[in-house]
Amino acid sequence: MSPAETGPEPKLWTPDSWKARSAVQQPNYPDPAALDAALAELHRLPPLVTSWEVNTLKAQLADAQAGNRFVLQGGDCAESFADCESGLIANRLKVLLQMSLVLVHGLRTRVVRIGRFAGQYAKPRSADTETRDGLTLPCYRGDNVNAPDFTTASRTPDPQRLLEGHKRSAMTINFVRGLIDGGFADLHHPEYWDLDWVHHAPLAEEYAKRVEALGESVKFLETLAGQTIGDFNRVEFYSSHEALLLNAEAAQTRQVPRQPGWYNLSTHLPWIGMRTAAVDGAHVEYMRGIRNPIAVKISPTMSAEWVLALCEILNPRNEPGRLTLIHRMGAGKIADALPNLIDAVRSKGHRVLWLCDPMHGNTQSTGNGLKTRRFDDILSEVEQSFAIHADCGSRLGGVHLELTGEDVTECLGGARDLTETDLERAYRSQVDPRLNYEQALELALKIAGMSRGPQAA
Ligand code: PEP
Ligand code: CO
Repeated sequence: MSPAETGPEPKLWTPDSWKARSAVQQPNYPDPAALDAALAELHRLPPLVTSWEVNTLKAQLADAQAGNRFVLQGGDCAESFADCESGLIANRLKVLLQMSLVLVHGLRTRVVRIGRFAGQYAKPRSADTETRDGLTLPCYRGDNVNAPDFTTASRTPDPQRLLEGHKRSAMTINFVRGLIDGGFADLHHPEYWDLDWVHHAPLAEEYAKRVEALGESVKFLETLAGQTIGDFNRVEFYSSHEALLLNAEAAQTRQVPRQPGWYNLSTHLPWIGMRTAAVDGAHVEYMRGIRNPIAVKISPTMSAEWVLALCEILNPRNEPGRLTLIHRMGAGKIADALPNLIDAVRSKGHRVLWLCDPMHGNTQSTGNGLKTRRFDDILSEVEQSFAIHADCGSRLGGVHLELTGEDVTECLGGARDLTETDLERAYRSQVDPRLNYEQALELALKIAGMSRGPQAA
């Protein structure tokens, strides 16, 4: 019997029921009254997304789970307020569109595009404080909390930043929607998304071939149909972020007319990070009660029992599209850690969508202490994921990546074979290293060649 039809009624949930649990990774605000005032304002402001969009994404994720779509989720590790700028947003959108085009063509399937943007402003950290030259300050937790400079003023959590983050998320999502509605993502005009490098990158030719082939297919289908096919003029884009700051997430959790339950309307797809996935913790309690599709990061330290408990708590009705499990194991660990988890989830009949995050298990430090990742490790983890899922009678439904539309040098390798010396040139991330535009597209081209399209799980 599937888990849907058995088990006791879940305990009463409210947007604040998480407060009775242990909430890790939360900032210590020095002025609780100022925090309450900021949360009240956040609650009053219009939301960033609608319940209709959230429901549409859930249906598309259910379709991906059934083997009919592939998910591309990507963006910065953390957005910064300073990077809320038209050029940077457009370039990130361009690289995601280019990657999705390559995936549509190579995997012969529809692609669900989800940005790690418009709200990815808070980060979990390994320590609460940082000490330099005898001075200890709160750690940097993302622009929604404090600023990176090592001064008392910058590092003190400031609740007004939650409102600034909301504004900048709104500006980001507004610009993305405007570009898409205006025809930026029109399949008849892939040149709209060209980045300068398309003309000189090592992989430019392969990309151009795929674009040309896809253009021919669009023309062919429209000739058969005898008309322009509306679906080709625009694509959908969804937003996602780690639901880390529970006060702020709860303030943006609302009821809407003619829909049962509560929606988090700050994003389409909130996810639970690895450090906040404790079964009895506050994050799992908060997330179980919202109607959005949700995701959880799965690390190699999680047991099958832990993952099964997450499935039972977060998706007790076994609703299709509701739960995405994002495994982030590391190229050296995935072969040992993943098969057991896939088998456990399958044997209990849980319906989940599996994504591979090949970034967070592959972080290492250079001789100079910079955080980096090797392109070959990232590629290897994705390759192994496809194979392991196929061997276990499951299906890899997509990828979750940290990337940027800029020419940064944060990850090693790729077609230009970036070395540790190259990293010094344009290392901009305050948090995790991202694939630059060329490395991101190279990865998409490789993935496009990995599978001959979807098979049902
Ligand atoms: C992240 O996605 O930036 C992150 C911190 O991931 P994880 O929770 O998997 O470590
Ligand atoms: Co990260």
